[in-house]
Amino acid sequence: MKLKSHINHIIQEAFVKAGIEHEAISVSESTKAEFGDFQFNGAMALSKKLGKNPREIAETLIKHLDLDTILSKAEIAGPGFINLWLNPLWLALQCEVAQKDARLGVEKRAAPMKVVVDYSGPNMAKQMHVGHLRSSIIGDTLANLLSYLGDEVIRQNHIGDWGTQFGMLIAYLEEMHKEGSVSLKDLEQFYKDAKGRFDADEAFANKAREYVVKIQSGDAHCLALWQQFIAISLGHCEEVYDKLSVKLTRDDVRAESFYNDDLSRVVRDLYGKGLLKESDGAQCVFLEDEEIPVMVQKSDGGYLYATTDLAALRYRAGTLGAKRILYVVDARQAGHFKQVFRLAKEAGFVPGDVALEHVAFGTMMDKGGKPFKTRDGGTVKLIDLLDEAVLKAQDTIKDKSSYTPEQIDALAKIIGIGAVKYADLSINRESNYIFNWDKMLSFEGNTSLYMQYAYARIQSIFRRYDGAIEGHIMISDPLEHRLCVLLLGFEDVLNRAAVDAAPNQITSYLYELATLFMRFYEQNPILKEGVKQEIKMSRLVLADLTAKTMKQGLNLLGIEVVDAL
Ligand code: ARG
Repeated sequence: MKLKSHINHIIQEAFVKAGIEHEAISVSESTKAEFGDFQFNGAMALSKKLGKNPREIAETLIKHLDLDTILSKAEIAGPGFINLWLNPLWLALQCEVAQKDARLGVEKRAAPMKVVVDYSGPNMAKQMHVGHLRSSIIGDTLANLLSYLGDEVIRQNHIGDWGTQFGMLIAYLEEMHKEGSVSLKDLEQFYKDAKGRFDADEAFANKAREYVVKIQSGDAHCLALWQQFIAISLGHCEEVYDKLSVKLTRDDVRAESFYNDDLSRVVRDLYGKGLLKESDGAQCVFLEDEEIPVMVQKSDGGYLYATTDLAALRYRAGTLGAKRILYVVDARQAGHFKQVFRLAKEAGFVPGDVALEHVAFGTMMDKGGKPFKTRDGGTVKLIDLLDEAVLKAQDTIKDKSSYTPEQIDALAKIIGIGAVKYADLSINRESNYIFNWDKMLSFEGNTSLYMQYAYARIQSIFRRYDGAIEGHIMISDPLEHRLCVLLLGFEDVLNRAAVDAAPNQITSYLYELATLFMRFYEQNPILKEGVKQEIKMSRLVLADLTAKTMKQGLNLLGIEVVDAL
């Protein structure tokens, strides 16, 4: 249910009836209960245009406002704000409809859009580290969200599988094969060992260099080794995706190497458009007002990160037909994306109406505010971090419950991984954030555990109630009214989060919803003796819609709920 647009529409009708010309109308949520459910502030802006007092405009408007169905009350406040109250009968009925609907009343887009989400993008030469965590889970959430809203989502994993370091790695892989001891379990170590060989042994280094040329010219033996190396590395990433419930599969991989054959064409087309300039033997594009040029070919003929991204942009807009392309990549690459987006449009690789967005995110910091590292200063491997999360979650719940060890194991996975994901998704993605185990694994505050606990509490009510949950909602106090307004606002929140590519808008909503429900439940017992049957049913229906909304919201974030905790 697009709650706000229903209200906007009513105001629009009032303007028409009053014969006042107006611009696009948008109401906002009231900040305090005494200001109603929503507020319309448009009279102020109109007053300048019409040369009239805003209160006068507001009064005229209210006279023509339909207060019989969706709205039940309107009041003028301050210099000309209009406070609006939703009709409790309408509100109750809409919540009943949502509770019975598998999509909770969330409509699918009338005009779906083809959207590419580029996320995760690990580099195959190295183990995945915490830096990739953010891209993987923010990207996955956005892909889930957009497809839930009805868009046609194409997930793209732009893995780094090309570059001179692969000559060294496959030369080393071959050497290990010959010795019969290949251990690619720890890619970080493998890389270090290969680099050690490269630095120490001239013959090995030459071979590595030779292999770079050979892979690039399509030598079958070298390509086979390279493919083997990539397959194993990708397998490591998939282990992480699996633990994280990130939905990327091999089909979503469009690696850097996928664009190889296109790179010379990119350079040629830029040349054809008169955009290229030679600078110290390299091919560059100098964009107006940009200090640094975009280099697309090095003096030795090699191509660069930007060249591949230009090819990828053309593929996504052209072959895939995307109308919106999201790049979920570290904020430190902002300069790169600003330039390639602009260049792709200037060169006509991407039509002007395609939205190109860098969904930037900040750095993960430790408690001391420094970039997150292991005790000895190394990069923290993602897989270790996730395993630690599960162990910590076990500690958190082991005294609390009467579960078997197997049940604790299963629960700990859901809780531990959920905590890591939620902590990340719940902050404004552009800020750096402090990784804090105690905070993320707390039952209190805006955490997944709090949400999972609230959900489980509602489920425990249902376990004690035996019967169908079906009936009418009767809104009898302000808290209940507010809860219904919030529940009906779910779709508006999702749509806003989709436009802003901001998962934290979903977590803020869920937190508000869970908190409000808990307060409501404390004041309004459900199964307690003496509660009248129809009131019991009304509260059960509300509890059910709340739980379903929480579950759906968490599901979009890739976080599971549990029925008991
Ligand atoms: N491999 C890159 C990195 O780790 C991320 C790739 C992002 N996607 C892109 N199309 N450039 O920094």
